[in-house]
Amino acid sequence: MERIIIFDTTLRDGEQAPGASLNQKEKLEIAGALMHLGVDIIEAGFPVSSRGDFESVKSIASSIKGPVICGLARAVKKDIDAAYQSTRPSRRRRIHVFLATSKIHMQYKLKKAEDEIERLAVEAVKYARRLCADIEFSPEDASRSEREFLFRIVESVISAGATTVNIPDTVGYAQPGEYGSLIAAIKNNVPNINKAVISVHCHNDLGLAVANSLEAITNGARQVECTVNGIGERAGNASMEEIVMAIKTRKDIFRGLESGINTTQIYKVSRLVSKLTGFVVSPNKAIVGGNAFRHESGIHQDGVLKERSTYEIIRPQDVGFVGTGIVLGKHSGRHALSERLKELGFKFSDGQLDKINTRFKALADKKKSIFDHDLISIIEDEVKTAKPVWTLESFTINSGTRVTPTCEISLKNKNKFYSARSSGDGPVDACFKAIDKVTGIKGELQDYRIEAVSQGKDALGEVILKLKAKGKIVTARGSSTDIIEASVRAYINALNKIESL
Ligand code: KIV
Ligand code: ZN
Repeated sequence: MERIIIFDTTLRDGEQAPGASLNQKEKLEIAGALMHLGVDIIEAGFPVSSRGDFESVKSIASSIKGPVICGLARAVKKDIDAAYQSTRPSRRRRIHVFLATSKIHMQYKLKKAEDEIERLAVEAVKYARRLCADIEFSPEDASRSEREFLFRIVESVISAGATTVNIPDTVGYAQPGEYGSLIAAIKNNVPNINKAVISVHCHNDLGLAVANSLEAITNGARQVECTVNGIGERAGNASMEEIVMAIKTRKDIFRGLESGINTTQIYKVSRLVSKLTGFVVSPNKAIVGGNAFRHESGIHQDGVLKERSTYEIIRPQDVGFVGTGIVLGKHSGRHALSERLKELGFKFSDGQLDKINTRFKALADKKKSIFDHDLISIIEDEVKTAKPVWTLESFTINSGTRVTPTCEISLKNKNKFYSARSSGDGPVDACFKAIDKVTGIKGELQDYRIEAVSQGKDALGEVILKLKAKGKIVTARGSSTDIIEASVRAYINALNKIESL
């Protein structure tokens, strides 16, 4: 079998998505999940862009073993030096140099002619190659570049030492047939192309990023650049899970090709990226959307019960999709909970299990049926804030159509209780203001969303919010059958995150 190299750029192009900023700890957590998922290359950031990005790439290069760790650089020495220095702790590293080659970019952005661009690209690749054996070059906006110039620059950078040449559809403009033929043309017109791997990098402005990437594979590309959940600049990048599952599901078309991805980890990584970026996955999203494996119509349900393959082309467990069946209830004990968590692929210490069990029991008192999604939500809410500074003790709200909403709240910090009371524009606002009073931290809410985790009137509500305080921005979640409590928990989780940074 021939390997399709999965180059994951969730932490670089994905993080460029408006509003998706991740801190160093969060990036490291995602990099760990990508390692377990089995991606070949992690593009960990754009090290020259900020001190924070440099440090994040460095910490990933220091602790993630297995995948190649890559840093992005413009075709200038200081960028290449930063990419080199930050990826140095990793035994397997890559420097990714890019420079635009389309007429529009050369004329308006770079104000340089073709010969000058070619000279700068070659110089940059030669310089990078002296520092690192694994060099990728991207002619940015390749799909809108003049073909003859593109062939020439690809040949020159390969001669200069590039080991991978990436052909970006930077603005998501290409159509599948056209993009596939571009890859075939590069294979046929660049004399030294067999000395490098052809890579593709597609954006989703016309909703074609995955289709274009797959067409490129059919025409000879052997590396695909993609992101978890398809997050990225503007409409996003090609979605990793869709590409991987297309290759796996349509072996008749992608004959002799495979990726090294452990597909059973896909759903978990998708949840993690959604949780840390605050980007909710839409229910109808292919592979990882909440409805991706749900059959609503009677005819479909009947068909699936008779023979699964009538309406299902992928088994949910192949992507680690968490079922929606009723799994536990009020009378389920700690052992049953622990067994179910193991089945879902989680391992916890006794202390962590105690915490989850306490939340589980409290939930089971309010809600008859506990679904897998409910359990995962509790885990995400409870376990990741293992050593919180502030914990919720209790709160009372008074709200209605004829009263000013007020909240009285009590929080615990190092075994001491602190309380405050506040009014607000609504009950949630009153609670947040009361928490600000208790903690002495003034939080600025930048985003607030609420979702139902499972089905039914008693469904667990999950609040996802983005909070700015002490000059830091974090995303946090909180869950409860009571949406005010979910909001309070999310707000406290966010403040704890801020305290821990
Ligand atoms: O979209 C693009 O062209 C890029 C390059 C830096 C590869 O992200
Ligand atoms: Zn891009």
